[in-house]
Amino acid sequence: MLVCICKGVSDRRINEEIRRGACSLRQIQDGCQAGTDCKACVRQIRQMLTTQARAPRASSEAS
Ligand code: FES
Repeated sequence: MLVCICKGVSDRRINEEIRRGACSLRQIQDGCQAGTDCKACVRQIRQMLTTQARAPRASSEAS
């Protein structure tokens, strides 16, 4: 699902940034450009950061 329409960044891409160690909006912006234009997606990105920070490694890596 697209989170950042302006930059065409998906939730998967943002989660990837978080898994790589991004822990702030700025780091997400630097890593994939999400949230650097109109900023409409910033709230959702922050929410993802909070959710991922609380959750232990999720199921997506089980293969
Ligand atoms: S929707 Fe992300 S910067 Fe516009």
